[in-house]
Amino acid sequence: MGIGEVVKAVAKVPGKVTLLGEHAVVYGQPAIVAGIDRYVVVEASDLEGDEVDVYSEDISVKGVNARLGPGGAVYTCGEAIAEKAFSYVFEAIRQIRIISETVRGAAIRIKSDMPVGAGLGTSAAVAAGTCAAYSAILGLQLDPATLAELATKAELGVQGSSSGMDAHAVCLGGVNVVNKANERLTVSRLKIRGPLPLGVVETPREAPTAHAVETVARLRSRYPDLVDRLNSDIGAIVQDGVTTIESGNLTQLGELMNINHGLLSSLGVSTAAMEEAVYSARRAGAIGSKITGAGMGGSVVYLCDTDRKLGEVNSVLRNMGMVSSAVHTVEKGVSVTLV
Ligand code: PMV
Repeated sequence: MGIGEVVKAVAKVPGKVTLLGEHAVVYGQPAIVAGIDRYVVVEASDLEGDEVDVYSEDISVKGVNARLGPGGAVYTCGEAIAEKAFSYVFEAIRQIRIISETVRGAAIRIKSDMPVGAGLGTSAAVAAGTCAAYSAILGLQLDPATLAELATKAELGVQGSSSGMDAHAVCLGGVNVVNKANERLTVSRLKIRGPLPLGVVETPREAPTAHAVETVARLRSRYPDLVDRLNSDIGAIVQDGVTTIESGNLTQLGELMNINHGLLSSLGVSTAAMEEAVYSARRAGAIGSKITGAGMGGSVVYLCDTDRKLGEVNSVLRNMGMVSSAVHTVEKGVSVTLV
């Protein structure tokens, strides 16, 4: 397809949960991540000139507009609070401009049913969706693995560091084991017997991911042997998790999530609200629950043995005033439709 033939491209990108292994993954241990059926949708259409106009219905705040011109980004409303989320869009545009060697204008519209900063991969999904939709209107057809690499670069541009775990989880979909060794991320897909019945509870964020990672690093500098042992125990949980997931043993997966949660608490990344969500989910009948993502607030994930139980646990948590929702793992990652 030649440049200029496509009027609009719509990219749909799932969110993600880390089922097992966050934080230890920073120290070379494996982790298991899964795409979930909550989505970021990014639409890109042609715009005269070379500026990029971005509108978001619900990223951070409702109805934010920004324009990327030669002098940088200008926010016409919403500004500071949306700046972080929008910087993923602009970095993604920059990555596609580098590989396509073209500077074309575009109107980008974003819709998300996940909040930013909840540990559900929203930032990676925004970056990946922008790469996918913008590259599609330029006539490029990029596969999910390439999009994951580009979204990781966009995350690096914004955050200064990224394991690439989120970008690969949302672009590839499915349940994957990721391993970061010698600066290289390897990803291998697990065969699962059906979508996992999960729930997520959003709790108030007390600190950003970088601070949570730093907290573990500081603890490790004071107790190196102890923290290294905790990290390798988390690695062992992940190894067990691989066979457990492939054999479809949900009860055992729940137990592994519970053990993993205890170790994450030991690393100092839990909060009172997260502990309450974790134990309320178990009390209501979940077979496992844990922090998902960096912690210090953000999301808790819980696993149920049936969809019916998931509905019940979700209702109990909502009746307690928690922001809980039922989700399932999805096999499909990023997808693009040309309109
Ligand atoms: O909260 P998230 O989804 O950004 O996850 C962070 C995961 C960590 O393992 C804590 C950090 C990392 O880069 O892997």
